[in-house]
Amino acid sequence: MEVIIHRNYEDVSNAGAEVIAEIVNNKPNAVLGLATGSTPLGLYKELISLHKDEGLDFSHVTTFNLDEYVGLAPDHDQSYHYFMHENLFKHINVPADNIHVPSGTTRNYQAFCDWYERRIAEAGGIDVQVLGIGSDGHIAFNEPGSSLGSRTRIKTLAKQTIEDNARFFESQQDVPIYAITMGVGTILEARKLLLLANGANKAKAIADAVEGPVSVMCTASALQLHPDSIVLADDKAAANLEMREYYDWIQANKPGAPTQ
Ligand code: PGA
Repeated sequence: MEVIIHRNYEDVSNAGAEVIAEIVNNKPNAVLGLATGSTPLGLYKELISLHKDEGLDFSHVTTFNLDEYVGLAPDHDQSYHYFMHENLFKHINVPADNIHVPSGTTRNYQAFCDWYERRIAEAGGIDVQVLGIGSDGHIAFNEPGSSLGSRTRIKTLAKQTIEDNARFFESQQDVPIYAITMGVGTILEARKLLLLANGANKAKAIADAVEGPVSVMCTASALQLHPDSIVLADDKAAANLEMREYYDWIQANKPGAPTQ
């Protein structure tokens, strides 16, 4: 796991966008795993700028989103379909047919989940999966207690997550209780994981994920099992990391390290 700490949110976002842009430039038909929430907004803004100003081309890219609220139609302004359309897809040239976001309104969730897993496999697997982290340590909607081998399925949201996400809804009662989400096992199959975190309310979750035991109680800790995972955190989210100095030392010495 590579832990890279930046001064602020903007630097975290730009560093994240650089990782994605390099993958897309090297592999025009890259398969991107995308996330919603406040955290990746800056990264998406930067990708839009790279598309508009530098011609970053998404015309052969395929995308898979992590999750969606059960019960919200794609045009609901708090659905993740809507979020992705407004904050990324409508600003770049990814073909509509290549976009995949789990359905929140399917009639058969089990069949949909199986199909979603099959589509990821048919697309050749995910090259890089963008992740946020919940204040309870979740990745996607894999709440504490989720199996680290779990696949795409329905999850019941934790009270903490409902409280955290209530800010986007008129009242806490409006926050859906269920979500359809890729599992931890699904996420771990991506070839690269890119977890972004900013703000003091993520400091405990980041410390648990990076330096705590691998545990279902913090599903982000499963990144420790992945051979190519990057954690990009700002100073505030990194505040509880005991090995902070070492992570900074590694980055400072990276240019001199043998690459072959
Ligand atoms: P946030 O959510 O980016 O809105 O903080 C992250 C998450 O819950 O995964």
